[in-house]
Amino acid sequence: MSTPLKAPLTAIPAELVSVADYARYAQQHIPHAIYEYIAGGGGDEITLNRNRQKLDELLIHPHVLTDCTQGSTQTQILDETWRHPMMLAPVAFHRLVHEQGEIATAQAASVLETGMAVSTLSSVSMEKIAAELDSPKWFQLYFQQSRDFTLSLVKRAEAAGYSKLIITVDAPLHGIRNRAQRAKFVLPAGVEAVNLVDRPELPSAAFDASQSIVFQGMMSETPIWQDIEWLQQQTEMPIILKGILSPIDAKKAVDLGIAGIIVSNHGGRTLDCIPSAIEALPVIRQAVGESFPLLLDSGIERGTDVFKALALGADAVMIGRPQLYSLAVAGAIGVGHMLRVLREELEVAMALAGTPTIASISSASLWQQN
Ligand code: FNR
Ligand code: LAC
Repeated sequence: MSTPLKAPLTAIPAELVSVADYARYAQQHIPHAIYEYIAGGGGDEITLNRNRQKLDELLIHPHVLTDCTQGSTQTQILDETWRHPMMLAPVAFHRLVHEQGEIATAQAASVLETGMAVSTLSSVSMEKIAAELDSPKWFQLYFQQSRDFTLSLVKRAEAAGYSKLIITVDAPLHGIRNRAQRAKFVLPAGVEAVNLVDRPELPSAAFDASQSIVFQGMMSETPIWQDIEWLQQQTEMPIILKGILSPIDAKKAVDLGIAGIIVSNHGGRTLDCIPSAIEALPVIRQAVGESFPLLLDSGIERGTDVFKALALGADAVMIGRPQLYSLAVAGAIGVGHMLRVLREELEVAMALAGTPTIASISSASLWQQN
């Protein structure tokens, strides 16, 4: 018999000290099928595992006796000043793991001065989340089948005070999620994509009923480059494309006047057998030039991972699954603690590597192997 689920903790146990600890603890707080949906990846999880493996293989080149008294993690991302080079990635349905859902996450992000990207598939409305969020506020768009409805989401995001529009381009549909399928994951009653309640009915022939289950229709439109160009004409918000791994696509985005790119494989959840984000990063940096805004996600769970991504050319990183794990374990205080752990780890890495500012981290900060 399985042990009953534990309610969210109201204090952080002393032995909970790393992001990976949250992933372990979370299994006691999240129903099995939901945990599998969150933790799992596409196919055989080759890409999911590779995200960690390639980060682990990188080594830092430490310099001693550096003056770190003026050390700071502060950085500039587009026109925004960030307290540290991290943001919460857009992640659907926070209410899967905690009653308050995105409200608690946004409260923690605000206290830790960390930006949050809010998903089209949030389980609390984008307006309510925005009202809780004092830190950088970005909105993530999944294109919808109706252009009018897509545009209405963008206009709501503008009105609610979101400053940037992320368009996720690597997941017009789910990857093959065998792990979630085996665990028979379905959205539980009471958790829904509230931003989409008014969306027009989909023509039933528009998707294949044999395909996965839960999200068909919520992220079912596959935008093409012309749709991105169209949206650029419709909004004042700078547009950032999320889910680019190819330097050719990255160059196209730059040529189109896109404001930034998030190098990502969706945490290994879409197409399996594609490269890890960290190994794609250097070629993308090369393709887009030195000063083009680049973020990275997929596999980040240590301050040293953030450091490595910055060394290879990212300006900042995004954190995906750990926000749901920490939310499940201890609500807003869990998310806040998880972010503080990451921030402290980054500060320690910077100090011990002898690179006390974000600008001082470079490719020379990594150990050249071979
Ligand atoms: C996601 N991700 C995601 N991305 C997006 O653009 N819109 C979304 O709604 C979601 N939803 C979502 C749900 C869950 C449960 C997960 C785990 C992920 C992808 C997310 O933004 C990010 O790219 C990855 O999570 C990054 O990898 P890590 O940090 O989880 O390894
Ligand atoms: C996922 C979708 C919601 O990764 O982006 O599950």
